[in-house]
Amino acid sequence: MDIFSAMKERRSVRAYQEKPVSRKDIEAVIASAGLAPSAINLQPWEFIVTYGEEKDRLAHRLKKAHRERQVSCGPGTAKPLPHKYSSRSRKALAAMEPGVSRTGLSFNRFIEDGSCSFYGAPIAIIVTIDRIFPAIRYLDVGLAVSYLLLAAQAKGLSTCPIGLIVAYADEIADVLTLSPEKEILLGIAMGYADETAPANDFKTGREELSEILRWYE
Ligand SMILES: Cc1cc2nc3c(=O)[nH]c(=O)nc-3n(C[C@H](O)[C@H](O)[C@H](O)COP(=O)(O)O)c2cc1C
Repeated sequence: MDIFSAMKERRSVRAYQEKPVSRKDIEAVIASAGLAPSAINLQPWEFIVTYGEEKDRLAHRLKKAHRERQVSCGPGTAKPLPHKYSSRSRKALAAMEPGVSRTGLSFNRFIEDGSCSFYGAPIAIIVTIDRIFPAIRYLDVGLAVSYLLLAAQAKGLSTCPIGLIVAYADEIADVLTLSPEKEILLGIAMGYADETAPANDFKTGREELSEILRWYE
């Protein structure tokens, strides 16, 4: 698969088959993430892969925390966003509508239940950065995450980045005995998509090029 096809075909998948993913494929995907560029080649990322019983143990703890605390998604979503951005999320909602209504969830619950794809996928990846780094280094980690998502796509695997799990960083650190020096930035669900699931029954669109590109000439 060429890179442009991988970029066009990738989408966030929220329901997975039980089919296991080989260790070889997982390693290849993470190795590809590690090929991303970073400032002075610091490679400030780390990827923690959980699967099997360890993933189930983590999922169990996160589900409990989510039931107890019910953190809702997206810092900033509580306040009204500027029109430009709120209209983008409305468009995403419209694209998701069949999948959302067929799962019987509201939009927010649907996105929050994306964390369920984290529990339900055979592989749950935790992305961390060392706290010694300033916020600008999140950019480097974001690049590596992009590489990871595209490499997975090229291998026939699907993914869903899950920001919501950061709300339960303490529980994750506890279950995985992470060092306090590690900051959790993102979760990523990975596995083979269940193409028959209503939760996967849509594809979000994107803004026109003229909305995101400015020429100075
Ligand atoms: C940093 C980040 C955090 C995200 N967090 C969640 C999440 O918590 N739950 C979820 O269902 N989707 C989450 N997503 C997926 C977005 O909803 C999705 O990327 C967006 O709607 C565009 O759709 P697409 O990925 O299918 O192209 C996240 C994506 C990113 C990049």
